[in-house]
Amino acid sequence: MKIIETNTLLQALGVKITRLKILAPAIAKKASPGQFIALMVSENGERIPLTIVESDIEKGTITLIVQEIGLSTKLLGAMKEGESLYSLVGPLGHATEIKNYGKIIVIGGGVGIAEIYPVARGFKAAGNRVEAILGARTKDLLILEGELRKVSDDVKIATDDGSYGRKGFVTDILKEAFTQHPASSAEYGLVYAVGPIPMMKAVSSVTKGFGVKTLVSLNALMVDATGMCGGCRVTVGGKVKFTCVDGPEFDAQGVDWEELEKRNRVYEDKEKHICKLKNIK
Ligand SMILES: Cc1cc2nc3c(=O)[nH]c(=O)nc-3n(C[C@H](O)[C@H](O)[C@H](O)COP(=O)(O)OP(=O)(O)OC[C@H]3O[C@@H](n4cnc5c(N)ncnc54)[C@H](O)[C@@H]3O)c2cc1C
Ligand code: FES
Repeated sequence: MKIIETNTLLQALGVKITRLKILAPAIAKKASPGQFIALMVSENGERIPLTIVESDIEKGTITLIVQEIGLSTKLLGAMKEGESLYSLVGPLGHATEIKNYGKIIVIGGGVGIAEIYPVARGFKAAGNRVEAILGARTKDLLILEGELRKVSDDVKIATDDGSYGRKGFVTDILKEAFTQHPASSAEYGLVYAVGPIPMMKAVSSVTKGFGVKTLVSLNALMVDATGMCGGCRVTVGGKVKFTCVDGPEFDAQGVDWEELEKRNRVYEDKEKHICKLKNIK
């Protein structure tokens, strides 16, 4: 649980993303793409879920990439090398079913790019042609482009302001890939997307129109992360699912996006209040 290495991956325009390497040999040994850990920074803190971006069995380390958005992620981002987490549990959740679909598209938006990286790597190793579409508000907020290029056959980038890659959204590039010639969408066995909820929702609506299987990894709020509290409840295909034990991946077409958006805002005011009390900006 000791932090072996920490470095700032990106700090711009009020966004800070940190990469942490943590000594956790038992987790490193078992981790597969798509899985996550739950950690507590301190005894009085909350438990937060983070994707296992990389694991090194020989060194016994796992790599996490975290964007500071609220109290716990800010406290984690401020931790120093040599310090230890209060608790760390994992690997959690179902691993991605890695198989050869032939040709797949992975889509990452913002810090979601860190979450698609292990999955892209797994699909590439399984012999797929992996096409990555990465999205960011602007060039300075794009992460892991080099890493994704190493595990993808093609990388396309969309920025909201056109400062890098194509001006527009990841869905614009996705639609182009599907409509290059009449048979295009039928060539893809899978689209896998992780990012902000509006992005995943938009991807799911595009792929629905073309009938392409689509998986999303849902960032539901979690409390215990072990299936006991119901905090991460989502509705998929009309059925209640717990993201921590039934997910985090689900068929995008069945997700009740409005419910997820509403539930993810539930502690917003309280978190802001605590940040203010602790003078954490
Ligand atoms: C399976 C899984 C894997 C994840 N992997 C990563 C990862 O690799 N890197 C990473 O940076 N983040 C990841 N997250 C999201 C991360 O867990 C949250 O950002 C974190 O819990 C926020 O805690 P906080 O106390 O800092 O923020 P809070 O103060 O709790 O939240 C601040 C603001 O962000 C919103 N928010 C909080 N949690 C989430 C969430 N889960 N999704 C969307 N909005 C949220 C709140 O409503 C509030 O508006 C993952 C989430 C899940 C469920
Ligand atoms: S976080 Fe408690 S059931 Fe999933």
